[in-house]
Amino acid sequence: MIDRLVSSATTREGGVTMKSFIAGLIVGIILVPVAFYFYMRSGLAPVATDAPPMPMEKFFAKTALHAKLKESMPRTVPVPADDTTFLAGAQVYTHNCARCHGRIGAPEWPGAKGMFPHPPQLLESGHMVTDDPPGVTFWKAQNGIRLSGMPAFRGTLSTTQLWQVSLMLANADKLPDAVRQVLTVPPPAPPKPAKRGAKGAPASRTKN
Ligand code: HEC
Repeated sequence: MIDRLVSSATTREGGVTMKSFIAGLIVGIILVPVAFYFYMRSGLAPVATDAPPMPMEKFFAKTALHAKLKESMPRTVPVPADDTTFLAGAQVYTHNCARCHGRIGAPEWPGAKGMFPHPPQLLESGHMVTDDPPGVTFWKAQNGIRLSGMPAFRGTLSTTQLWQVSLMLANADKLPDAVRQVLTVPPPAPPKPAKRGAKGAPASRTKN
């Protein structure tokens, strides 16, 4: 396209074609944002969570995030990656992250299912962030991810708590049982006896 424009500019009379080439360029520069504005106003742009992504949406979101992470994620980890840290991280996770990112043995929260982008179920294999350096998870949890529903915990969790949960998630595929237990939703309790003091209730309850 550009080649053709340039070659036609050289074949015809230099001055005039160059002028029209520049005029075309200026119109193009104006037309693109105008077209974009009308696209946004037209109701065709996706806004519902189940709509397909906007053209180039993923590219812009991921490119900007990766560039930011490269520039500002912490590279040294000031907290040891041991069982005490994982246990504390599991508590932080249960109270702050589990609603969206899920727990072991529990169905996904319906609210999380309806989010766009979808929150990865960080304790499920295939969704884990065990391949990411803990500094990446730390940065995301501290700062959040704009336009995604991933909140920033900068003001609500301490730096230590953020490292604890990040290290726990970085090792989510090899956590000791005691930690997994904290992250697991217990199976429902067996049904209670129908009536207090009814036949079959514990002896201590029926006396007195
Ligand atoms: C309100 C829902 C919500 C809560 C609560 C939440 N997140 Fe998220 N999180 C999201 C969403 C949505 C994404 C997906 C963002 C994206 O794809 O751009 C996400 C993405 C992430 C990612 C990136 C995963 C990947 O595959 O790269 C990490 C790590 C993460 N969250 C950690 C946490 C931690 C740690 C907590 C708790 C301290 C937490 N999140 C709490 C919604 C939530």
